[in-house]
Amino acid sequence: MRIAVCPGSFDPVTLGHLDIIERAARIFDKVVVAVFTNPQKTPLFSMEERVDMLLEATGHIPNVEVDASSGLLSDYALKLGAQVIVKGLRAISDFEAEFQMARMNKKLAPSIETMFMMTANEYSYLSSSIVKEVARLGGCVGQLVPQGVARRLAEKAGRS
Ligand code: PNS
Repeated sequence: MRIAVCPGSFDPVTLGHLDIIERAARIFDKVVVAVFTNPQKTPLFSMEERVDMLLEATGHIPNVEVDASSGLLSDYALKLGAQVIVKGLRAISDFEAEFQMARMNKKLAPSIETMFMMTANEYSYLSSSIVKEVARLGGCVGQLVPQGVARRLAEKAGRS
């Protein structure tokens, strides 16, 4: 069975993430979307909230599972029996950090490949950070994130 891990902070999941997950699910037998702690970021949503939002957003894709971990991604992928780590790549600005992580994960777990999927054009400017900023300042994010996420962002901003 071909298993892929889609790792990320998902704080929160956006339609850009969802597009990558859906496309990966068409290629692999099973896709595990794994929410990780990124020590360089202070999350708006708790791990449990991020997992809940992903469960809601991916409920229509039968071969997708959602999980959470606070350890090393390479260990997680090995334990899962995954062959591939799938990540979305937006623009040149993503490349340096992604290249570094991919090389480090290869060093830690040589049997696991990292594969990059080009983000769809319509989501190439989208990030969880920009969505959070727009929502916090009262902008409409309804076309950028799943419905449940838009509702939770409005709640966090005190507009519900
Ligand atoms: O959505 P993000 O914040 O860009 O995702 C980054 C993430 C969570 C994939 C990365 O921080 C990660 O892999 N964290 C797990 C801990 C780990 O393995 N760190 C070493 C990475 S080479």
